[in-house]
Amino acid sequence: MPSLRCINCQSDYPTSKRIYTCPKCSGLLDVVYEAPEFQADRIISAWDERRASPKPIDQSGVWRYRELLPVAEESEIVTMMEGATPVWDAPRCAEYAGMNRLSFKHLGMNPTGSFKDLGMTTGITQARRLGATSVACASTGNTSASMAAYAARARMNAFVFIPSGQIALGKLSQALDYGAIVLQIDGDFDDAMRLVREVANKSPLYLLNSVNPFRLEGQKTIAFELMQQRGWRAPDRVIVPGGNLGNSSAIAKGFHELLERGVIAKMPKLTIIQAEGANPLYRMWARYREREKSETQNRDHEGSEAQNSESEKSGTRTRDRKVADLKLVPVAGATTLATAIKIGAPLSWPKAIRGINWSEGEVEQVSEQEIADAKAMIGLDGIGCEPASAVTLAGVRKMVAAGAIKPDEDVVAILTGHVLKDPDYTVNYHAGSLSFTGKNGERVAIESRYANAFTRVPAERDAILGILGL
Ligand code: F0G
Repeated sequence: MPSLRCINCQSDYPTSKRIYTCPKCSGLLDVVYEAPEFQADRIISAWDERRASPKPIDQSGVWRYRELLPVAEESEIVTMMEGATPVWDAPRCAEYAGMNRLSFKHLGMNPTGSFKDLGMTTGITQARRLGATSVACASTGNTSASMAAYAARARMNAFVFIPSGQIALGKLSQALDYGAIVLQIDGDFDDAMRLVREVANKSPLYLLNSVNPFRLEGQKTIAFELMQQRGWRAPDRVIVPGGNLGNSSAIAKGFHELLERGVIAKMPKLTIIQAEGANPLYRMWARYREREKSETQNRDHEGSEAQNSESEKSGTRTRDRKVADLKLVPVAGATTLATAIKIGAPLSWPKAIRGINWSEGEVEQVSEQEIADAKAMIGLDGIGCEPASAVTLAGVRKMVAAGAIKPDEDVVAILTGHVLKDPDYTVNYHAGSLSFTGKNGERVAIESRYANAFTRVPAERDAILGILGL
């Protein structure tokens, strides 16, 4: 039977307990599985066979992997056959990034157009198991769209807390259409997050943000499905956008569980990319790297061989301890046009850091200009995505240029949201009118380097032929 375990003090709780963090130390909770008898070969065959089955829970790219999910009766499962999303080669993007090859797993191809559906099927199913009739979340848009849809399927009431005027219209329209009660908070996402937690603690509302470990159980299947699509061969590196840091945490847990059970042979390097204006994890990581560099230099100065071999032996342990010492400092007034990841105080950062540590991963940041150009390039491969997803390509390009990623590495980037989520951004980019507010409140124009503006023409055949030069 799975249970809940605090990642901080290791206390265990039953999954029937309605808690989001550890009652003893407020640490984040994991769902853990005591299943030493996991037989990798047999289970992989079952997972492979289910891909051909017409049953909704087999078609679902989440419930297909139910041996490693919280138990639920089939009748309790709320699924929209989420998952089963494509992995595409992106030759133009590879060239743009300086890679030999690059592929994207596009989670925007889920029922509500983002990866949130993978976590919502498990989150809403758990809500139903606990007898909840009302669910709530704070959101930069996609979580609210997804929760609203799954709550509607389960006939539950959905309450969404969104930051004032800061979410893409496509996402807001979804939450309204799926019947959620939408509260626009006079504040940013971090305010909305704080408030929804306070309200959930004092009411019967069941909280479905990614601090809820049942959400992350669904999202970890991104790693499972990607591996299945690749014949269980792990890539060298997986690139993920970082906002509230639930998704990167979930993906890391997924890979780690497969590695522990002998399903894959290595852990891909988890590489999290943030927008420069909303980069608390990057800042923390940069401080850690600085400290690590200066300690190495000091050691080299001291230069005793005995000391060096001793430190090598205990290297992993020391890294674990040092990483555990890290503290995230929230970024006040986070800002980026990639509104999905406009978050200054991410909740799941300890799990994201754990994933980086497990996989010897990295954190990088990218500018608004880099995000906009990368998004246009992803469009030119015929794929398209919303702005937050494009940080992945921008990050790969930057890291290849810096020598941190080798051109022949096997890299998969995770696209998190559909191109139609934020059409304003796309149209403004191509029209040459995209701009953002800089650090000192000034307007900064984005250069539309790959602009594809539309042309106004008179409603006359000859004029059109003339303009087309035909
Ligand atoms: N990409 C998209 C399209 C997102 O919507 C989000 C998060 C992320 C990336 C970042 O994922 O938060 O797990 O690190 N959107 C949340 C929301 C915050 O409310 O829809 P994360």
